[in-house]
Amino acid sequence: MDQKVNIHPQVEAKIDDLLCRMTLAEKAGQLTHLSPSLVGGFDIEDLIENPELFREVKRDFHEDWIREGVVGSFGGMTGAEDINRLQKIAVEESRLGIPMIFGLDVIHGYRTIFPIPLAEACCWEPELMERTAAAAAKEAAAAGIHWTFAPMVDIARDARWGRIAEGAGEDPYLGCQAAAARVRGFQGNDFSQPDRLAACAKHYIAYGAAEGGRDYNRVDLSLQTLHEIYLPPFQAAVEAGAATVMSSFNDLNGVPASANPYTLTTVLRGQLGFNGFVVSDANSIGELVPHRFAADRKEAGLKALTAGVDMDMSTESYRHDIPELVEQGVLSLDVVDEAVRRILRVKFLAGLFDHPYRGSAALERDIHLHPQHLSLAREAARRSFVLLKNESDLLPLKKETTISLIGPLADNQADMLGSWAFTGSPKDVVTIAAGLRAAGCANLRVAQGCAINSPETEDFTEALAVAAQADVIVAVLGESAMMSGEAASRVSLDLPGNQQALLEALHATGKPLVLLLVNGRPLALPWAAQHVDAILELWQPGTQAGHAAADVLFGNYNPSGRLAVSFPYSVGQCPIYYNRPSTGRPAGAFKFTSKYIDGPWEPLYPFGYGLSYTQFAYENLRLTETEIHPEDTLYVRVTVRNAGGRRGEEVVQLYTADLVAGRVRPVKELKAFQKIALQPGESRELLFKIKASDLGYYDTAMQYVVEPGLFQLWVGPSSAEGLETTFRIV
Ligand code: GLC
Repeated sequence: MDQKVNIHPQVEAKIDDLLCRMTLAEKAGQLTHLSPSLVGGFDIEDLIENPELFREVKRDFHEDWIREGVVGSFGGMTGAEDINRLQKIAVEESRLGIPMIFGLDVIHGYRTIFPIPLAEACCWEPELMERTAAAAAKEAAAAGIHWTFAPMVDIARDARWGRIAEGAGEDPYLGCQAAAARVRGFQGNDFSQPDRLAACAKHYIAYGAAEGGRDYNRVDLSLQTLHEIYLPPFQAAVEAGAATVMSSFNDLNGVPASANPYTLTTVLRGQLGFNGFVVSDANSIGELVPHRFAADRKEAGLKALTAGVDMDMSTESYRHDIPELVEQGVLSLDVVDEAVRRILRVKFLAGLFDHPYRGSAALERDIHLHPQHLSLAREAARRSFVLLKNESDLLPLKKETTISLIGPLADNQADMLGSWAFTGSPKDVVTIAAGLRAAGCANLRVAQGCAINSPETEDFTEALAVAAQADVIVAVLGESAMMSGEAASRVSLDLPGNQQALLEALHATGKPLVLLLVNGRPLALPWAAQHVDAILELWQPGTQAGHAAADVLFGNYNPSGRLAVSFPYSVGQCPIYYNRPSTGRPAGAFKFTSKYIDGPWEPLYPFGYGLSYTQFAYENLRLTETEIHPEDTLYVRVTVRNAGGRRGEEVVQLYTADLVAGRVRPVKELKAFQKIALQPGESRELLFKIKASDLGYYDTAMQYVVEPGLFQLWVGPSSAEGLETTFRIV
């Protein structure tokens, strides 16, 4: 359903009226997004490491500029009272009373923190992602926020890149489902509602393709790959009605994304028909200078605005330089007016002119950490876990078992929240240990064993003494919250610090060993995969981490997550992703084929993979016809049976491959999936409808073509296996 931001004549008429009355300075102000300035010397790294410092540092809220009517948008604020105090100045004291729009990074929750977005993508449940986004919107709106800088919809194929944590993984089809679901969740059908937020699809575009997985680094890709892999989730977000888009830090083929006329105007406006506004990422306009794409702030602002960035976050180029550029005749007033129009359009659609004040302290008290939100957070967390290994069905455990819970993440609150959770509070978090105790695990012993990332060797004596008392050892290892997210690229995907040594020491006890992973990216775990009896990927599960972990560990919930990203054996394989080309020399036993001489070329765990406490069988894959025309739909049927002893959920995945084409095509591409629940012994026939028009690609002339030819089709439990057949487009 096309919910794109629309052009309403009566709204446009109101905008016309305002534009006629605005001074050039007021117009430049509308294009400006500011945050409070921190007064006095401070080290941003200190603030990030110690968020509570924010409460102490004095801040300048720029009331005078708001009163002059030269601040159109505000960030970095939490709390309805503070926000509405500033809004009141804009509405009641500025000349035209144009309300500001208050934006914030509400990425995976506000006070109730949900699993990181990469974890939620592993649920393969768009409806669940929509619900958590809606709950996040409710809590943030109660705190006075109008606009979230989410969803992050960047496709990521390289686990070295810390921001892989914030998106929906490596696949465009799953990425589109997640993008649309999150936009719907944040915005509902009408983001002027008091419990909704305007959404912001970010980071436009191809930010996840940074060379070397190094954040902010260059991106060099073909326009075909841009359109087939990185653009689709933005198109899905725009069609779901995303009110705004955020331009990214990276350059694309030498033209910075925050000053790129092709992506920002030709594609976003021309091809996708986007009518909302584009906000730059923080200071990405100013960074055109170190990009060596602009000589100074003034030229940077001119290039960004004329390329299609409507709002300047933090550089203040627009506010300072636009009036002069227009007066010098270098910048057309029409360009300025169009940008102001887009921003005012979103403000009208957000209802800010009629209801400029949102939220209250009372609403915050009623809605933050609401039991329904906590219950949803627990539900989302346990559904996002991925069971990677379960040798001889060691899991689920019995509550009577004597468990030694060991590791730096075993009784840890802050790191359960993951990145972009600064509005949450570690004190709200149920740790893994607390969750197991609350579930009735009477014989639980806990030891930290080592730090998350200590550079020094550490003594495991105490942890091993605790381990010796156990029937089963459960290690809880992984990354800290700040080892993924922004500016958190890693050159290694190993367990950090001494955690691998601790795991091997625990394994040496000879006791049954379970590994719970708490991390924000795929890790390289070949030793664990070989030696540990059971491995459960928890990701960063949020406020209800411990309860969700207990639900799965003790079998109250049968894990149903499936990987949204490939796990490599080694960081040397990155970037690694399932929808890769076969090459002219597909990897094989013969030396002269595409592989490595010192390690595997396949992933350790493939895209779409995940185990269950039960087993599923696939039978009877059938197509209604084996030849279709480009305008036809292919009907695919398959029967899935729960062949095990307990209820379980399966993500039934459908992949296709174009076997011969005018451009080299991926060995397979996800085209559909259904997540179903089956009782023991239950069978169900599923129907998939695949439009031939979805099986095309961009040819060498950048035309989207659906070519006749033979296709392979698989239906199965992951990208690595399934029943297969063929069909032809004629
Ligand atoms: C950051 C991030 C972006 C975020 C913005 C505002 O640098 O790149 O994702 O929304 O600044 O905080």
